[in-house]
Amino acid sequence: MRRNIIIAVFGRKGLGKTYLVKWIVRRSRRMILIDTLNEYNNGTVVYDTDALFDMAMEPEFRIVFRPLNDEDFEYALDLAIAVGNLTLVIDEIDQHTTSYSLPEKLRWVIHYGRHYNVSLVVAARMPQRIRTDITAQADVILSFQQQGKATISYLKDFTDLDLDLYVRDLEAHKFISIIGDFSLDNPPDLP
Ligand SMILES: Nc1ncnc2c1ncn2[C@@H]1O[C@H](COP(=O)(O)OP(=O)(O)OP(=O)(O)O)[C@@H](O)[C@H]1O
Ligand SMILES: [Mg+2]
Repeated sequence: MRRNIIIAVFGRKGLGKTYLVKWIVRRSRRMILIDTLNEYNNGTVVYDTDALFDMAMEPEFRIVFRPLNDEDFEYALDLAIAVGNLTLVIDEIDQHTTSYSLPEKLRWVIHYGRHYNVSLVVAARMPQRIRTDITAQADVILSFQQQGKATISYLKDFTDLDLDLYVRDLEAHKFISIIGDFSLDNPPDLP
């Protein structure tokens, strides 16, 4: 049976999170990508939920969905669960969750996505600014350079690596795997 995978990408601004997310999902054949900041064009750009629904009924789809409000965002999460067997991508996920709040639909995707084979790829700058459900359930956590003590100490919880050594001094576009097996040569198998 296929196993869903949750990948979380962190790192300071402009170091390559969005670029990496595009790379990770480049072979996905069933993808809904929530593009809050209008940065993606690696699929068909869709603004309204009717069009989103129609496309997601196809056997294969690469949808870049730009929700106009929270309701449309939640619609996309509901649809992802209902359709299943797909990759859901949410860059700038800190626009939708904080350390204490998590929309119910997002909580559902994180905790029960496995049952619907919904894989999830998310990115944000600081892991401690998003709800712990996400990092706690992630199979892979990648980080670009980080400087803040709070951020590094948050990430230390997940690894025995000496993050003061490895994460503070990473060059631009370089990242490390905090948890999970991940390498650019061996991309994860996503729906
Ligand atoms: N591995 C890479 N090789 C070459 N260029 C890269 C690489 N990664 C990122 N870049 C370039 O660096 C710039 C910033 O990258 P990107 O937008 O992915 O950063 P980000 O971490 O998502 O930033 P933000 O936090 O602002 O969203 C872009 O112009 C991108 O094309
Ligand atoms: Mg980005």
